[in-house]
Amino acid sequence: MEARVWIKLVLAMAVITICGCEKKDANVKQQKAKPEAKEIRQMSANRESFGKTPDGKQVDLYTLANINGIRARIISFGAILVSLQVPDRRGNLGDITLGFDKLEGYLGAHPYFGATVGRYANRIGKAQFKLDGKVYKLAANDGENHLHGGIKGFDKVVWKLEDIGVTDEGAMVKMSYISEDGQEGYPGNLACSVTYTLTKNDELRINYDAETDKTTVVNLTNHSYFNLAGQGNGDILGHELMLNADKYTVVDTGLIPTGENRSVKNTPMDFTTSMTIGSRISQVKGGYDHNYVLNKGSGALALAAKVYEPKSGRIMEIHTDQPGVQFYTGNFLDGSITGKGGKVYKKHYGFCLETQHFPDSPNKPNFPSVVLKAGQKYTTVTVHKFYTK
Ligand code: BGC
Repeated sequence: MEARVWIKLVLAMAVITICGCEKKDANVKQQKAKPEAKEIRQMSANRESFGKTPDGKQVDLYTLANINGIRARIISFGAILVSLQVPDRRGNLGDITLGFDKLEGYLGAHPYFGATVGRYANRIGKAQFKLDGKVYKLAANDGENHLHGGIKGFDKVVWKLEDIGVTDEGAMVKMSYISEDGQEGYPGNLACSVTYTLTKNDELRINYDAETDKTTVVNLTNHSYFNLAGQGNGDILGHELMLNADKYTVVDTGLIPTGENRSVKNTPMDFTTSMTIGSRISQVKGGYDHNYVLNKGSGALALAAKVYEPKSGRIMEIHTDQPGVQFYTGNFLDGSITGKGGKVYKKHYGFCLETQHFPDSPNKPNFPSVVLKAGQKYTTVTVHKFYTK
């Protein structure tokens, strides 16, 4: 093995040992480096420091890498995906998610860049819901409604490292968090975990698991803003999108579903065949910010969306077992946030495809249920697959 490789290995082991996770990291295997490659690429999962929260909590940065050069960086604050480097059709790596270089950016106000969102992703109307005859009042942090878990949602807490390493499938990191009974108004202690796996097959898989000790509601998602041309490199209106959804949930002016699921046919909402995001966006008031009803429903893992960016050739497919996906075109980005590498994020500079249960499900008996009871297991998965054309 080349001297450089040895140095890299020793450094990686040193980082792991300093951080004190000897047991789990014993399974960090290194693949044989290819000597002909300019950059030595190997499947790896590393841990380093990303700073401290104002109350002194240590925040970790985990880097998952595979041999094709894909690199996912995740921090323990908010279990946030802070960057995702993916090759374009020429093999050049580009970071395709919006976010910040430093922890300070994530500690301040921002629109959930890359975050793990919970206990309930998306909106709950009038910030309340009824469960087993009891009304639960939540924080109203979006007008009169509740959004993305409240004032201090899962995106603003430090998650605990459970496991990190390389398995036969790829590089993975698992983090856990216990949301206490009554936190942000939700009933029951909810023990949850999120696992990011970067596979050998160029997929970033996100698994969510949760258990409660009292009947509650759960809806977890990832809130990454993507730009397949590279973060900060213009708007996403030229991206071609296919959504595997014949219907969407109609919303009122506060973006709360009315309960009607309407056909997309002959409307600017129709992405059943691939269309550029910008082709009809001017006909949608405010831009896209809608939950699509996926054709496959909940249960089996199925293709929800496919996005192609013509200049870079990058393609992202999203597969999920969730019944819906919120398609949001960064309508509220207005140039006031400066992100990674000094890039200014303007309107439509990123799009989100948040796989999830429908908004306001706790108040909509006709929507698929989001209720989790003691003894039941919440387990969901979403896979982002990358390739080029
Ligand atoms: C919502 C948007 C919201 C954004 C940032 C999205 O999931 O649908 O309405 O502005 O998150 O909070």
